[in-house]
Amino acid sequence: MLPIKIQEITFNDILPTWRHQLWPNRSSLIEPVSAIDIESNIDVQILNYLSTAHFFGAFDGSTLAGVISGHLTAPHQCRLRGLFVNEVYRGHGISKLLIETELNKAKLLACTQIWALIRTKNLGLFQKFDFQKKLETDKYEFGPHFIIEKSLD
Ligand SMILES: CC(C)(COP(=O)(O)OP(=O)(O)OC[C@H]1O[C@@H](n2cnc3c(N)ncnc32)[C@H](O)[C@@H]1OP(=O)(O)O)[C@@H](O)C(=O)NCCC(=O)NCCS
Repeated sequence: MLPIKIQEITFNDILPTWRHQLWPNRSSLIEPVSAIDIESNIDVQILNYLSTAHFFGAFDGSTLAGVISGHLTAPHQCRLRGLFVNEVYRGHGISKLLIETELNKAKLLACTQIWALIRTKNLGLFQKFDFQKKLETDKYEFGPHFIIEKSLD
């Protein structure tokens, strides 16, 4: 394992990675909070959870090697969002560190459930954390996606 340190970062810190690496040429605006709900529908009420949005970076020294984010989408329900690990850092367990960090943050925010909209090819990664597949959707860019969910205790 590399000497990777996880630190809370800001939306402005995460934005270049999201814009240029995770979602290149994305047509919809990238915001700190997404209005997609756990059923894969748009629910603008979710935008009211802006104050719960949080962002983490995995650092190798001062180099940002990976990112993750999250925000509430309903009372006690958190969405995990925007996981990305730079290509040169892949295969060293960094995504696992980031997902664990997000699970802990969701618990700190008193969430009893966490969910994510993931690219279907990444299901195996999230199954390592006991996420369950809820539905498949092709409604959004960079899909097809699964919505996956997990209870938190
Ligand atoms: C998917 C991604 C975040 C994985 O990052 P990573 O740091 O290389 O992953 P890790 O090294 O932490 O892998 C953890 C474990 O999951 C496995 N794994 C990683 N990616 C996987 C995938 N796509 N499918 C199944 N298993 C996967 C690894 O083999 C490893 O298994 P192990 O614990 O048994 O050794 C990275 O490849 C990435 O950023 N991809 C492009 C963006 C993307 O797809 N983001 C996620 C959107 S849902």
